[in-house]
Amino acid sequence: MFSSLCRYNAPRLSRMYSAKTSATCTTRQDPNKPKPKTAIVMLNMGGPQNIDQVGDYLLRIMTDRDMIQLPMQSKLGPWIASRRTEEVQKKYLEIGGGSPILKWTNSQGMLLTESLDKCLPEFAPHKHYVAFRYVSPFTEDAFEELEKDGVERAVIFSQYPQYSCATTGSSLNAIADHYKLRPIPRHIKFSMIERWATHPLLARVFADRIREKLLAFDEEVRDDVLILFTAHSLPLKAVSRGDTYPHEVAATVANTMIELKLKNPHRLVWQSKVGPLPWLQPYTDDSIKAYAKQGRRHIILVPIAFVNEHIETLHELDIEYCHDVAKEAGVVHIERASTPNAHPTFIAALTDIVKNHLRSGPAVSKQFLTRCPHCVSQRCHKSKEFFKSLCSDSYNTQEPFVPPPNMPKVIITEASKA
Ligand code: FES
Repeated sequence: MFSSLCRYNAPRLSRMYSAKTSATCTTRQDPNKPKPKTAIVMLNMGGPQNIDQVGDYLLRIMTDRDMIQLPMQSKLGPWIASRRTEEVQKKYLEIGGGSPILKWTNSQGMLLTESLDKCLPEFAPHKHYVAFRYVSPFTEDAFEELEKDGVERAVIFSQYPQYSCATTGSSLNAIADHYKLRPIPRHIKFSMIERWATHPLLARVFADRIREKLLAFDEEVRDDVLILFTAHSLPLKAVSRGDTYPHEVAATVANTMIELKLKNPHRLVWQSKVGPLPWLQPYTDDSIKAYAKQGRRHIILVPIAFVNEHIETLHELDIEYCHDVAKEAGVVHIERASTPNAHPTFIAALTDIVKNHLRSGPAVSKQFLTRCPHCVSQRCHKSKEFFKSLCSDSYNTQEPFVPPPNMPKVIITEASKA
């Protein structure tokens, strides 16, 4: 989420929060293409495309109370963002000057919609809309654009496979905020896919990515390479509140190991902790050092909660951990598995998830509508009520989605409802 972004100094506040640096969505409708019928809205946090966007990006993160809670946040958040901008800009320069997350999300979106057009002609044409939380193209712009395009239905599709109130929850709250200020387009049928941690094809992609890297190890040690799954950590406060993220990440890990069918040892560790409060452990860098001391010196790092390369993989894992930390700890051989990016199996996973959702999924899941057991946030409560209304105006949340006329008819009887 924000760790690699959060450690250093820079006085650039004057340029921050300059509203929408570039509100232009890169997914604008091509006039030669037919009008889209179904929007696939791809939610993610986003990343700066160039170093001029870094300050504004950090400021948005540091002032988002869904993502991070600070005392006196309206003052402290901008101050921290300002102090850290320059160092974070250096990190982006070290990975080529910007985040590739927009490039990957657009590739995934185009491949996904092409695939959906083929397998779901009744919902075609599909069009993807990138909806980033902290940088252009912003979530609000994506919704304005799909309204202008005149779509008939919109699938809000989180690109975080594992749900957290800090990530997907924050993006969904931003959508609810957006529609507080303007009329809800009741002619559009909205629905939501907010988690897909256990989809079998997701596990298959991660297994493929691990196998690719295992081949880089000498055959004599290959069976003993330690597979370290790594995911962004979460404050223990959020874990204790009942955030589902830790167990959803663990479920993806378990599925991946089943898919891999190998006997290699594995562990799940956590990266990117920020600030002085306790977070979910063990940390990835500490684990590399500790395992090296135990004599485990052949390691693969597997980012299990990121579907695109970005600063946490390209800088934190590749430069800081695989290079600096591993070298100092005496690790003999370390590799980092690629994120799914545009892997064909990953596109097949996205297609299958959306296809099943459009054909028979609930418009909004009961899992989403259930709050964390210790949630006291009125914002969460109101946001869930908003989505219940937004989506159930289009579909019944309790019953399966009624298929369009050109699909086989399903007769819903009282008995089948029971
Ligand atoms: Fe999880 Fe409110 S913090 S639902």
